[in-house]
Amino acid sequence: MHLVLCLMLGLPSLCAGGWCYQTQSSCDNPCRDPSRWSSDFPRCGGLRQSPINIVSRKVHVNTELPPLEFIGHDDRINITVENKGHSAHFHLPQSVRLSGGALPGHYRAAQFHFHWGASGTPGSEHTIDGERFPMELHIVHIKEPYGSLTEAEHDMAGIALLAFLFEEATDDHPHLDTVIAALGQVQHNGSTAVISNFQLSNIIPPSEELRGYYRYVGSMTTPGCEQAVAWTVFHKTLPVSSRQLDAVVQQCRFWTGQPMMDIFRPTQPLDGRAVYRSNSAARPCFAGFFVILTTVVFIH
Ligand SMILES: *[C@@H]1O[C@H](CO)[C@@H](O)[C@H](O)[C@H]1NC(C)=O
Ligand SMILES: [Zn+2]
Repeated sequence: MHLVLCLMLGLPSLCAGGWCYQTQSSCDNPCRDPSRWSSDFPRCGGLRQSPINIVSRKVHVNTELPPLEFIGHDDRINITVENKGHSAHFHLPQSVRLSGGALPGHYRAAQFHFHWGASGTPGSEHTIDGERFPMELHIVHIKEPYGSLTEAEHDMAGIALLAFLFEEATDDHPHLDTVIAALGQVQHNGSTAVISNFQLSNIIPPSEELRGYYRYVGSMTTPGCEQAVAWTVFHKTLPVSSRQLDAVVQQCRFWTGQPMMDIFRPTQPLDGRAVYRSNSAARPCFAGFFVILTTVVFIH
């Protein structure tokens, strides 16, 4: 219905909501699944797309990838969560910031969100040696002085995305129930709720515990797939119990009204890119990542 309406009105902007994940597409709902995103969003067919499968024996150890520096992660903040129709975004204030990690600048947080599977099936976007993890957290940061993704999209590292993979644990993640409850308050496309006194440091560990990470250049994993992302995928996983995993996937609905499940894009070809791994014994050196970026520009 949505697509038909788009075509009748001839308004491409209305059709922007017409993309969907693989499991949503059916005869009743002929939405654009990931294999067809690039027909509406040409950049989704580019050569620096995300997510990827990280092959651990092929990564390049880079001694110039120092730890990241988190600012404002301990602050108690009131955050708005919003069902965006494809996932739920937890909006972060600009007081939450990121630097270090050989990123070429200072970054302000914009939002975080999760990717998950279905009941009992994993749903991370990145895979490690072919293994898909139960869930993945993305924290999206925009480089200063840009104010939006649109402004940042022409900069290869205009966006810094931090990715945390979850691993199933016997015990609950002690603070994930707050997130699950918030998801339960935004069941439908467009609905919002506020979590008060939220601390990002309750969800993720301090940066001292996050010295080990993978780094590569890629894209946003939803349309328009902007190729402006410096990705950091941490080695350290976050715990989640099977009870929490079941609860996460049951809270929200897609813009189509179906239960919001399997919200991950399939992995994309590396297309000649290198994946780097930090060496936790390394000394900081801020020239490192520029060298990496320049090399990638030359390849393409
Ligand atoms: C968060 O909201 C509460 C009221 O719900 C308010 O008392 C508090 O000052 C707010 N905190 C911040 C940091 O804005
Ligand atoms: Zn994401």
